[in-house]
Amino acid sequence: MPLVEPSSHFKQIRDWSGRKHAVLEKYLPAFCRAMSRQRRGRAIWYVDGYAGAGVYRDSQNPSTSTAYGSPVLAARITGEPTRCLNVEEDQDNFDSLQRETSHFPHVENICNDFNTIVDDVLAKVAGCPAFFFLDSFGTKELPMEGLIDRIAMRHNPTDILLRYATGAVRRLAASYEKDPVRGGANARNLDKWFRGQEWRIHVEQLSGEERDNALLRYYLRQITSISSGRLKFACSYPIRSTDGITKYHLVFATGDRLGMKLMSDILFEAEAKYNKEHEAHRNEKELAKRNGQLSLFDPPAPDPDTQIAERVSQLKQAILDQSRAPERQWEFDDLRCTLIEGGWFAQFSEKDFRAACKELYAEGKIERLSSGKAWSRGTEFTLHSPSEGLIQS
Ligand SMILES: C[S@@+](CC[C@H](N)C(=O)[O-])C[C@H]1O[C@@H](n2cnc3c(N)ncnc32)[C@H](O)[C@@H]1O
Repeated sequence: MPLVEPSSHFKQIRDWSGRKHAVLEKYLPAFCRAMSRQRRGRAIWYVDGYAGAGVYRDSQNPSTSTAYGSPVLAARITGEPTRCLNVEEDQDNFDSLQRETSHFPHVENICNDFNTIVDDVLAKVAGCPAFFFLDSFGTKELPMEGLIDRIAMRHNPTDILLRYATGAVRRLAASYEKDPVRGGANARNLDKWFRGQEWRIHVEQLSGEERDNALLRYYLRQITSISSGRLKFACSYPIRSTDGITKYHLVFATGDRLGMKLMSDILFEAEAKYNKEHEAHRNEKELAKRNGQLSLFDPPAPDPDTQIAERVSQLKQAILDQSRAPERQWEFDDLRCTLIEGGWFAQFSEKDFRAACKELYAEGKIERLSSGKAWSRGTEFTLHSPSEGLIQS
């Protein structure tokens, strides 16, 4: 790996950037694997629209501590038939990106404004499945109107993972409310970001966290309702520092139920890991405050087995609730996706779901149609309706 000179643009990686990268590192290979089954000789594209320098350096100790940025991580975990296309407009960052990726034959870098060249990028990846990672700092560079909507109208499988700049949206909304000079221009910026004006109603009616949440939900609705767009499912995940501050949200949008299921599993694990790190950080801080003295009043840590049992029990109820629909027979992943769409996104693992199915089967509330004993993809069953007996196809 080439060494680079330390300079201001090689920022030190923050704990939360590592969390963003972990999501990318888990999802990208899963996307490529899923697409390789249907690619019919075509390439699979990874497009990093705001690629950065490719490397982060520890400003205190620049020669020893390096973390990779998204384009290098992507290059390292992919290879033919996946191809990587990175766009970076800053010349210094671009030079660094070139150095860091020059030895990957499947990587191509472009020094330009992603907005200006998006049509060229779309032409280049047309006809192929593509995953877009769009990680810009603010809102102006990444409008839904004229950029995301163009990507959404592609004809081939398309997933997007982007940064919803929560703080920037909050600031622009506040400026629309209070700043007679810049408020108008900032509101027009938000019109483009959201590709609509309904955000103004939320800003006028709500404040604080409620407002943030309503704006984010509006964004997710907008991205899935782009007319003739492919993006049918969208969800968000907060990227937080270890001490619990939300830095921004990742928004994931896909046209494919499988993509949503994969991301749900990935974010469930990410959340469990984050909770552990956050808890450990809180405990360390508490202990330091008390000069290392443990307190009898410390609440006991939640018992993981009890947490799993509670989750499985809630899942069982959610599964049984599906028997109210005049449904046919269910398939394992089909029902899992239905629950994810119904509010369980990133709330459970496949293992939890399997345990819930097995318990319901043992209790006689699920009738198995498939042969064999395993509960996994392909397993078919029917659900007993609470009032009408077994629901048949
Ligand atoms: C948040 S950083 C990217 C970090 C990178 N994704 C990572 O995880 O390592 C955003 C980058 O986008 C670049 N950028 C900003 N506006 C751009 C634009 N319109 N087109 C291309 N790059 C842009 C900035 O120079 C910066 O390097």
